Amino acid sequence: MAEQLGSLTRTHTCGALRVADVDRQAVLLGWVQKVRDLGSIVFLDIRDRHGVTQVIVQDDAALVEKAKRLRSEFVVGVEGLVERRAADTVNTKLPTGEIEVRASAIRLLNEAKTPPFLIDGEQSVSEETRLKYRYLDLRRPNLQKNIILRHRITMAMRKYFDQQGFLDVETPILTKSTPEGARDFLVPSRVHPGEFYALPQSPQLFKQILMIAGMDRYVQIARCFRDEALRADRQLEFTQIDLEVSFATPEIIYEIVEGALVAAFAEVGVTIARPFRRMAYADAMAFYGSDKPDLRFDLKIQDVGAQFATSPFGIFREAVEHGGTVRGFVIPGAGGASRRELDEIVEMAKQAGAAGLVWVRRGADGVAAPSAKAIGAETGAAVLDAMGAGPQDLVVLACGAAEATSKMLGQLRLTVAKKRDLIPADRWELLWVTDFPLFEWNADEQRWDSLHHPFTSPREEDLARLATDPGNVKARAYDVVLNGWELGGGSIRIHDRETQATVFRLLGLSDEQAKLRFGFFLEALEYGTPPHGGLALGLDRIVAMLAGESSIREVIPFPKTTQAVDLMSDAPSTVDAAQLRELRIRTEA
Ligand code: AMO
Repeated sequence: MAEQLGSLTRTHTCGALRVADVDRQAVLLGWVQKVRDLGSIVFLDIRDRHGVTQVIVQDDAALVEKAKRLRSEFVVGVEGLVERRAADTVNTKLPTGEIEVRASAIRLLNEAKTPPFLIDGEQSVSEETRLKYRYLDLRRPNLQKNIILRHRITMAMRKYFDQQGFLDVETPILTKSTPEGARDFLVPSRVHPGEFYALPQSPQLFKQILMIAGMDRYVQIARCFRDEALRADRQLEFTQIDLEVSFATPEIIYEIVEGALVAAFAEVGVTIARPFRRMAYADAMAFYGSDKPDLRFDLKIQDVGAQFATSPFGIFREAVEHGGTVRGFVIPGAGGASRRELDEIVEMAKQAGAAGLVWVRRGADGVAAPSAKAIGAETGAAVLDAMGAGPQDLVVLACGAAEATSKMLGQLRLTVAKKRDLIPADRWELLWVTDFPLFEWNADEQRWDSLHHPFTSPREEDLARLATDPGNVKARAYDVVLNGWELGGGSIRIHDRETQATVFRLLGLSDEQAKLRFGFFLEALEYGTPPHGGLALGLDRIVAMLAGESSIREVIPFPKTTQAVDLMSDAPSTVDAAQLRELRIRTEA
């Protein structure tokens, strides 16, 4: 039977007691992690978020009996004297390992059912079970560490932005749709039947309006909602550190954001070098086949189309003749790869979408490759030399359209690096990707799409091209990338109504449609809008990276599964017919 807490007051957390506390009376409140019953003595490990302390129960027969009845995850209060442990019983793994508490009273505050998994963190448990019993999962050491880190990073960010003169301003959750490239979550209005609010995909328009409103520097730890396919780095609802700055230039934004990331990294004791590297989008795509290149390792994609333009190797020569090219990269130390390993690499390339992959290495008598004869010793050697491949290295090559070939090789580069252990641990490669195109062509709908979002400003020197050559207009947009993850993205915005209207038209929105969806914003732009720009960082991604996790689900207290389900609360779920009637909504059976 549970007892009441009464006047029992905690004197120390379960992680606090040290040798200096010996001979003090202590009251600990927490969960029973473990009971060790040695007959006349019972040891209890009592746990809270701060740590674990050993309690010894001895001599008092009634108290020993009471301790024996305790089970894992029972909630208890323990009162007793802090004692030094004998030298041979010190637990060096615990900060409290040099002491124990000799119980004079135990109060059972609550019982617990046997949990479906152990809380000590050593057992491996399926993610499904962990998410269903998330409150137990959250008691485990790894999630406790991650949630605490998340708190610390959030606090460091708030402090940093306050010091930089930012105002923390909230923006609405029930709002009008803001396009960020995903589907909206809609909320039906009861008061206005048939009308819907949209949950914000980001606070984009509101933060721009806050600039028009003279707030100068805005920041918000903002929840965003996007109905998109879930992955390790994507959730339906996620958190941004969202910022906007009046009279901004890209350099001003880089300075601010680099400072924020320095503050975040400091929370895990890592000092990062500034300024971050920078790379134009076109180079990232050509050399790494990705707009978020992982620069912790080399394997840079190189173009050797020129070497094959006149070679006897038909497939490659013809690819070049047809306007394509030949690209590849060097895999250091893979020169000695076995036949099986080579087949594996070719298979990985096929998985990445390659029609084929040719490998070349230096052999005892010149160039070795499956098609060595066709390639020819001369071309083979020229290619190996041009790519800087040493005697220990392997070169892989593929041909096709330049961008598609780089994209495929970019994927292969990642799999090969992982598989061959070429990614150094504890390396942080931060990078600004710049000079994005403003638009990409949407062949399905025969119109332009924004690469970032429709409020991104074209470069000033490209303004005239908007009308004539939109495909070659560059944006004043930038992404910040860490070890192959996009941490954040932003841009300098359009601040005049005319350019904004032109961009809407290019995106296939008629003036009427633009007015219907963004009329309020276009109007606001006419009331003295300062030039402005900003960025949003993905908080979940930053915390996951710094916690060494490969999925953001490990740093979100209550995440959804990749099937978009909350297994603990069982959302989404059906609702009462009455609720639907009130909203004038009928569902299809
Ligand atoms: P963007 O759409 O690039 O920009 O988002 C900014 C950052 O938010 C994170 N992010 C996500 N994290 C988890 N789950 C998701 N589904 C998800 N989607 C995005 C990423 C990303 O870099 N309004 C603009 C910002 C701006 O222009 O200022 C925006 O939202 O880390």
